[in-house]
Amino acid sequence: MVQATFNFPKGFLWGTATAAYQVEGGNENNNWWLWEQEPGRIHNGERCGLACNWWGGRWREDFDRAADAGQNAHRFSIEWSRIQPAPDRWDEDALDFYRQMARRLVERGMTPLVTLHHFTDPIWLAERGGWENMETPGLFATYANKVAEALKEYVNLWVTINEPNVYTWGGYLGGGFPPGKNNLGTAFQTLANLLRGHALAYREIHKIQAAARVGVAHHVRGFEPARPWFPPDQWMTKILNNNFNYAFPAALTDGRLRFAFRALSIPEATATQDFFGLNFYTSERVAFAPFSKGNFFTERFYPPGAELSPTGYIASQPEAFFKAMRWAARFKLPVLITENGVEDSSDLSRPRYLLQHIHQVWRAVNYNWPIKGYFHWSLVDNFEWERGWSQRFGLWGLDIETQTRIRRKSVDLYAAICKENAISSEMTARFAPEIFAKLFPG
Ligand code: FCB
Repeated sequence: MVQATFNFPKGFLWGTATAAYQVEGGNENNNWWLWEQEPGRIHNGERCGLACNWWGGRWREDFDRAADAGQNAHRFSIEWSRIQPAPDRWDEDALDFYRQMARRLVERGMTPLVTLHHFTDPIWLAERGGWENMETPGLFATYANKVAEALKEYVNLWVTINEPNVYTWGGYLGGGFPPGKNNLGTAFQTLANLLRGHALAYREIHKIQAAARVGVAHHVRGFEPARPWFPPDQWMTKILNNNFNYAFPAALTDGRLRFAFRALSIPEATATQDFFGLNFYTSERVAFAPFSKGNFFTERFYPPGAELSPTGYIASQPEAFFKAMRWAARFKLPVLITENGVEDSSDLSRPRYLLQHIHQVWRAVNYNWPIKGYFHWSLVDNFEWERGWSQRFGLWGLDIETQTRIRRKSVDLYAAICKENAISSEMTARFAPEIFAKLFPG
């Protein structure tokens, strides 16, 4: 049997990613909480509830588990509505709560990566039109300033906004997120304001911390023409790529937002990324569908034969991950994989998903693309937005009734990867023998 070790560079960041609303519980002052109250919005009418009860203090033991399992970094997010519960009120205790979290990570030798906005908006902000409102970027910058000031002792790695494309598609192009709109004009305005908000926050953070590294977590979805020889499929793929994957990072490069066949200069956004945050899950095929107006004249589906996650949400496409990293590397910035993972409550396919995706990261690193770290989504099962509790992305499982953490075997696999800073034939034979020959051909 082949024996081999694929090593990662010294100092590579290995962690998991979480988001405030999904793990904290008890967030009743933001637009997602309101959204949950509306019938039909969340799968099976489920509620976020206590989530993983981080607000009740369970973050501490989850962080300890992550540290004991060899992780040297963690990405978590701050809930804006806790820091600024009303437009004229700042909650120092909430700031202190997050400062404790960051401090604990540092004490455990872990690098904190802090996200300022991960999908949720305070109710007071949503009532003013959320990110459609031209005043929101400035309000976001003030909030960013508060948080950076409070956490600067422990944190210098920041994500301003998580997945602006998913936020906009979800909320403004019929994707099942609040405020449940479906309008290209408002989507454009939202995306433009997210850019402005990011640019202002980028400067605020740098004013406080000259050495801060600030970026965005971009959701990149692989798109391939369903019939590669068929020009309409090629065009639709290109249009989707340009609008969904490329519009936001391109505007952060050259200050011009090109979206929905419109263009707008936002010069202050030019060159406002210190790293490229890449969230990657899957890739799909795109076919031109002239009668499918609601779906932008496309039909999209997973490649026949691809391995699907239990609810069919994700197709495992490691090669597409490699392509996404190649594409991200073109921005000539350090790249952090800010999210990657799969829902799999029985943990049958996660070990091979993990190994195959991290194998692609290893390949990318050896092409000398500047990939500096990998954050698995997620540390522990958590509330998956409009999909409720139906999807389990945690290395650790969660029994939501008892708050018991369940150690899946992926915990031990990922711990071995983090501790050895490598993937090896030995761990593949142990955790996912079915893909051994793929990763380690004789
Ligand atoms: C990403 C989100 C994250 C989580 C994963 C599964 O799009 O950033 O909050 O829902 O998907």
